[in-house]
Amino acid sequence: MKVIKVLNEKEVGKVAGDLILSAIQSNSSSILGLATGSTPESTYEYLIEDFKKNKTDWSKVKTFNLDEYVGLSPDHKKSYRYFMNDKLFHKINIDIKNTHVPDGLKIENPEDYDKLISKNGGIDLQLLGIGTNGHIGFNEPGTSFDSLTSVVDLTAETIEVNSRFFESALEVPKKAVSMGLTSIMNARKIVLIAIGKNKAEAIKQLINGNISINWPCTILQNHKDVTVIIDEEAASLI
Ligand code: GLP
Repeated sequence: MKVIKVLNEKEVGKVAGDLILSAIQSNSSSILGLATGSTPESTYEYLIEDFKKNKTDWSKVKTFNLDEYVGLSPDHKKSYRYFMNDKLFHKINIDIKNTHVPDGLKIENPEDYDKLISKNGGIDLQLLGIGTNGHIGFNEPGTSFDSLTSVVDLTAETIEVNSRFFESALEVPKKAVSMGLTSIMNARKIVLIAIGKNKAEAIKQLINGNISINWPCTILQNHKDVTVIIDEEAASLI
């Protein structure tokens, strides 16, 4: 696992953004796995700036997002599909048909998402955030390392932390459809980003903890190509 410590959020976005851009430069048909939440916002801002300045061509890139809230339609303002359209897809020249976010309303056969990813050749680079409890995607503590895309229950902690995006904790969906830990481990390269003191314990577990389902992120210790990009606060316990 390669760990890159930088000064601040903007630098996290630059370093992660440059890794994504170099994947696209080496293969214009790259398959990217993308994440939502506050952390990737500086990465997406960097990619949009690059697009304005350097006209990086996204027309053949395909993307697969990690997760979506169950019960929110793609046009719901708090859905992850809406977030991705708003924060990235509508601001670059990606073909929206090449972008995939699990559908929070059609949850009958969630493993079809993994089949679609492998039919397209598998993920070249997976961008990940991390929850304060070590979740990746929405794979909460206790999730089997064998998991594929499935409907999952969110913990009270995650609902509370994510309530900042909603009017109140009561409005946060209690379930999500998430790529599983095996789905994530299948990516050829993983880039995990974290910002802020509230991620320091999860980062400590990710890097130095015993591999355990109690900290889902620790499965990444078994992956051969992981780059962790963190600011000083997220790095404060390592
Ligand atoms: C959310 C998402 C994760 C994300 C994490 C951290 O619940 N499902 O994919 O990495 O929590 O979010 P944030 O970046 O807002 O701290």
